[in-house]
Amino acid sequence: MKVWRVRGGKPLRGRAAVPGDKSIGHRALLFAGLARTPSILHGVSRGEDNESTAQALREMGVRIERDGDTTRVEGLGLRGLRMPKGVLNCGNSGTTMRLVAGLLSAQRFGTRLVGDASLSQRPMNRILGPLQARGAYIEGTRDQTRDEDERYAPLSVAPLLEGETLLGIQYEMPVASAQVKSCLLISGLYANGPTLLREPFISRDHTERMLASLGVPLQTMGTEVALDPREWEGGWDGFEWTVPGDFSSAAFLLGAALAVPGSRVVVEGVGVNPTRTGFLDALRMMGVAVQHSPRGECGGAEPWADLELEGRGLRASVAADEMVVRMIDEVPIWCVIAAVARGKSELLDAKELRVKESDRIAAMSRVLNAFGVPVEEREDGLLIEGGGPRRAAHVKSEGDHRIAMSAAILALATEGESTIEDVDCVETSFPGFVACLKALGADIEIA
Ligand code: S3P
Repeated sequence: MKVWRVRGGKPLRGRAAVPGDKSIGHRALLFAGLARTPSILHGVSRGEDNESTAQALREMGVRIERDGDTTRVEGLGLRGLRMPKGVLNCGNSGTTMRLVAGLLSAQRFGTRLVGDASLSQRPMNRILGPLQARGAYIEGTRDQTRDEDERYAPLSVAPLLEGETLLGIQYEMPVASAQVKSCLLISGLYANGPTLLREPFISRDHTERMLASLGVPLQTMGTEVALDPREWEGGWDGFEWTVPGDFSSAAFLLGAALAVPGSRVVVEGVGVNPTRTGFLDALRMMGVAVQHSPRGECGGAEPWADLELEGRGLRASVAADEMVVRMIDEVPIWCVIAAVARGKSELLDAKELRVKESDRIAAMSRVLNAFGVPVEEREDGLLIEGGGPRRAAHVKSEGDHRIAMSAAILALATEGESTIEDVDCVETSFPGFVACLKALGADIEIA
């Protein structure tokens, strides 16, 4: 297992680019795989999570070839997927499992979806319930050692028989979740009636933007989305899209620029869909404005921009409700910023963080503690007392890429040598993370 050795205090300066947006990459691959004709995608991340989605499609007969930055996908049409020979392995990727489960629920072949140890501990009732309600034959696995009402991976999907179709559904989602919403919209492409969804807050809307731009009859109104395939001739042609840089990866570089005094960083070509940029709003509340240079829109109606940030004083703040949904994957790096900002910062309404790649509330509480930052863990968040003295630390990522990267940024902002253990997981979302930081002048080595 790899370890990072990080020496803190050196300012970061320069321009950087990050891998393609993971969320957009999953969807671009899936929708290209379902197109009637070939598609060309630029900038799909080489991270393991996007690769899990590509591999699942390959197992179902879709030809996907990569050449440098370009991915060519030979779509088979909405009804062209074939039964895979073995199980579909989603690795660490919750998005792969939940979106592909929606797709498989509508097929005339059976399959099984498996994941790694972390993914096998993540709750699946949130998709199983509504998929079963719309007529899918999908089951999860019970885990005696955990909540006995919950179901986990492996997931088994039995085929729909001749004459059977998924039904329309009206569903009030108990938690805001783009994975659940997308699972239901994708299965809704095959349903005999409308899919009407409402979530408590708007989660990332990449699926809605992409499907609408491909001509699928889909409408959104605030927290509601409606897809009605009844009058639709069904399907779309191939497309050529560019995937913007991943805002969630860029957030670590922006976080580093803020946390290490004297830094100035520009991150080029980053997706700035407003359902993803709650972190920028959270920074504004802490007294920091990130400069935007818009680049217009890229494929799937996604806005992108260059982002520039200069390190400066921060004030403590609160992150709560809808903002937490729009910065769901940036909460760990927000905690690092809160540890540097003078005063008490509060994270509220963040219970969902407990069911990500790790229990991120508990994991960040341990990381902050190790660096000497006073922190109080609560059921749905954290109270962080920032701006005090910190000490270098030895911490573990707990197999979670965003915990590893957050710990590395805190180490860069702390005098002395820290080590972060178990960092191979960063390959899921940000291959090249260390090289990128080094190019900006950070003192970080892989040991
Ligand atoms: C994702 C949605 C979010 C996010 C995850 C990616 C997606 O999860 O945390 O990293 O691509 O749909 P939830 O929608 O389940 O909160």
